[in-house]
Amino acid sequence: MQIDIVSLFPSICKGVLSESVIGRAWKEGIVKINLVDLRDYTHDARKTVDDTPYGGGAGMVLRPEPLFECLQDLRTPDARVVLMTPQGKPFCQQTARRFATLSHLILVCGHYEGIDERARQCLMDEELSIGDYVLTNGAIAASVVTDAVVRLLPGALGNDVSSDEESFGNEPLLEYPQFTRPVDYKGMRVPEILLSGNHQEIATWRLEQRVLRTVSRRPDLL
Ligand code: ADE
Repeated sequence: MQIDIVSLFPSICKGVLSESVIGRAWKEGIVKINLVDLRDYTHDARKTVDDTPYGGGAGMVLRPEPLFECLQDLRTPDARVVLMTPQGKPFCQQTARRFATLSHLILVCGHYEGIDERARQCLMDEELSIGDYVLTNGAIAASVVTDAVVRLLPGALGNDVSSDEESFGNEPLLEYPQFTRPVDYKGMRVPEILLSGNHQEIATWRLEQRVLRTVSRRPDLL
């Protein structure tokens, strides 16, 4: 799979995505991540990408020309072009799974007061938000989406089943509580059932815990 991230701050994504599981998947070629600096698609000496909004108002708006030129360059017949913006649909695990089946994903990072409406309408296949808050730019949001997608690619986690049982995996249930050594930490003991060796009972207990957690923390998922 190839993921292109179009941003004014590609080094933000580079730092985040070079570490740990995603960094390894990138190095091993499980994903090809292409960080694109939108300023490379400007033609003036100052590499201007934005301008003041028509009609007045605060902030700056991304001009259409660099976005059109950039996407003309990057788009392939299979590509899905996604704008990261707080006005987009909420990103969720189901969307991550859908993206993980694509061969080419292009994430476009929004900026300050937004992007020129003509670029939004003509170039974007969909728009996504990572939550109801406003970040300074879309680079962190694009990194979040890339992380959630790449870890689902075959081989990325080293063990293909390990993303199945987790929260937002195949069932809309949160994860069960986990314990490791020591058995007794300052008087707090690991539940006896987990020490019993009875796999059937452990599985039942874990499912109960998942339901209880989901009811108390995220009833909206049920
Ligand atoms: N850009 C700024 N804020 C954002 C958000 N919440 N989601 C996606 N992109 C953004």
